[in-house]
Amino acid sequence: MSEERETRHAKRQRLQSQSEKRLQYREEQEIKRKNLKHVKIDENLIKDQDSNDSKLPIKRFYRQRAHSNPFSDHKLEYPRSPDQMNWSKFYPKFVDETTGKLSKQVTIADIGCGYGGLMIDLSPAFPNNLILGMEIRVQVTNFVEDRIIALRQQHFKEDKFQNINVLRGNAMKFLPNFFQKSQLEKMFFCFPDPHFKQRKHKARIITNTLLSEYAYVLKEGGIIYTITDVKDLHDWMVKHLDEHPLFERLDENFEKNDECVKIMFNSTEEGKKVERNKGDKFFKCYKRLPDHPKL
Ligand SMILES: C[S@@+](CC[C@H](N)C(=O)[O-])C[C@H]1O[C@@H](n2cnc3c(N)ncnc32)[C@H](O)[C@@H]1O
Repeated sequence: MSEERETRHAKRQRLQSQSEKRLQYREEQEIKRKNLKHVKIDENLIKDQDSNDSKLPIKRFYRQRAHSNPFSDHKLEYPRSPDQMNWSKFYPKFVDETTGKLSKQVTIADIGCGYGGLMIDLSPAFPNNLILGMEIRVQVTNFVEDRIIALRQQHFKEDKFQNINVLRGNAMKFLPNFFQKSQLEKMFFCFPDPHFKQRKHKARIITNTLLSEYAYVLKEGGIIYTITDVKDLHDWMVKHLDEHPLFERLDENFEKNDECVKIMFNSTEEGKKVERNKGDKFFKCYKRLPDHPKL
């Protein structure tokens, strides 16, 4: 009995020390993040740092519940309109020194980017595009911010990973607050939350209403990429996209030759998990049609 109590006591102590360690780690990372997330990472900055500063973040310290309710009030910050959005601080290396303004717009969005693997692989493939991940979970967003800061520091000499960043936001509510009409060239929906139960289907990230918003921010000819390991969700996404007058399904020829299809197949954390478990991956791509609807 006393042995059992001691074991329980030891367990409690172990959990407490783990939780204290996690809190301490998060606090330290937060200080670093606040100082570095919006600054230009260059030689001068690196000179003043110690070598520990550019370590990649440790994922287990950022764990959070798997699902976040997209309908609840997350106290998110969002601009009144895209004009009010200051993107310069997200991509400081792309700020024109003479005008002080950003030389480009965000054109690629990873919706529900999770831990950021897709953006990290897209970054070198699209060095002239600004890429944004939108993620609703706070700790997951923090992880991606810390990952990008560390990567920028590690690769400052080659100026790598300057074109990616992440924003905490609810893509089901505020996309038109962030992006102008026709601003985006590509939108990725990789392994979105499946919301299996019928009464939860309304929380799926692809619905008829939301597709109209995605069509608004996508330019004509822009592409929506979808991939999932859940067949029922795949059928749902295909059905809604097929039915929407502003999207057209792309054929196998496109799928075989498009660079992004290859990247999205293997680079996201969920995709890698599916690979390890030898699961299936279902994907489809759709082109944004001109504004006049199909006859
Ligand atoms: C299953 S994970 C997939 C993450 C990543 N795309 C991947 O393939 O590894 C789905 C992600 O979408 C995020 N998410 C769900 N609803 C969202 C919303 N309305 N806006 C932004 N992110 C959302 C979740 O927090 C979660 O990180």
